Amino acid sequence: MSDSLPPSSITLTRPDDWHLHLRDGAVLRDVLPHTARQFARAIVMPNLKPPVTTVALAKAYYERIMAVLPSDLKFEPLMTLYLTDNTAPEEIKRAVDCSFVHGVKLYPAGATTNSDAGVTNLKHCMTTLEMMQAEGLPLLIHGEVTDGDIDLFDREAVFIEKILIPLRKQLPALKVVFEHITTYQAADYVREADGPIAATITAHHLLYNRNAIFKGGIRPHYYCLPVLKREIHRQALLKAAGSGNPRFFLGTDSAPHAKGLKEHACGCAGCYTALHAMELYAQAFEEMGALNKLEAFASFHGPDFYGLPRNQDQITIERSPWHIPEELPMAETTVVPLDAGQLLQWKFVG
Ligand code: DOR
Ligand code: ZN
Repeated sequence: MSDSLPPSSITLTRPDDWHLHLRDGAVLRDVLPHTARQFARAIVMPNLKPPVTTVALAKAYYERIMAVLPSDLKFEPLMTLYLTDNTAPEEIKRAVDCSFVHGVKLYPAGATTNSDAGVTNLKHCMTTLEMMQAEGLPLLIHGEVTDGDIDLFDREAVFIEKILIPLRKQLPALKVVFEHITTYQAADYVREADGPIAATITAHHLLYNRNAIFKGGIRPHYYCLPVLKREIHRQALLKAAGSGNPRFFLGTDSAPHAKGLKEHACGCAGCYTALHAMELYAQAFEEMGALNKLEAFASFHGPDFYGLPRNQDQITIERSPWHIPEELPMAETTVVPLDAGQLLQWKFVG
């Protein structure tokens, strides 16, 4: 095929989603097939109510996920623990000894959905984090400070200076995944820093800047945390994702909320992208002329960082425009996918 012709289809190693919210119960049952159709594995966030704070709770959650997985789909949930001020080092030992826990998630208390039980001060967690460093269990970080006097749009950049750099100075061998980065400061930090660090990048942060939240009126389906930032930041994320640097990999942060709780006086944070994740990433990579870098970002860098094997099978995405549904059934209600009603150029075909 000539270089000048855009490809009509892309076949790549089956990808994994390194940051996903599956929820529980009837919502889990309805959203899981979307992810399992496209991805072989996903790092499953533990911010349930109550949070998944122990290996025993993670095992029970793993079993609830597998119990509702449709029999024609193959999928492996990679479980995580929710770090609290009281997580014991022994829990880390148990996590390392089991086969299904692959990371521990740090939510600064109050940073986002169901983060009330999160860490109030990392000084409470040092022996636990030392154990994680010694055992090679990754810390997955929601990197935003929560102080009310820090501007919402600055919370990630301030987190790097105030929390992340000092933490990594204390624990330089701790494996860290800086989740859903949104700023050039985060992209620069992850690219330049010493030691074992990587970052996930969502499709929505690659496709949109903060104007999307306010286009012609308030657009709650583009509200997520960390919130979308200026165009200069989006450009930095595109550059990082398309660079081929193994420190950057795919994490959708697909986060289902009922339509009525998004379109609300106090709407929930989260974009639902599980339905069409790979198509959205393909659109972003095509925008920057880096479709040839999509496979490594989606399918190689994540397992390499986590020390897991790469997937063996393949998926295909075709250039075949289709309209994203306005809403999808979810438990007793519906969920609105990102870009609902819009035309998408790429289509996942299996
Ligand atoms: O937008 C978000 N939604 N960001 C998060 O950090 C949490 C997530 C959720 O659980 O809804
Ligand atoms: Zn998340």
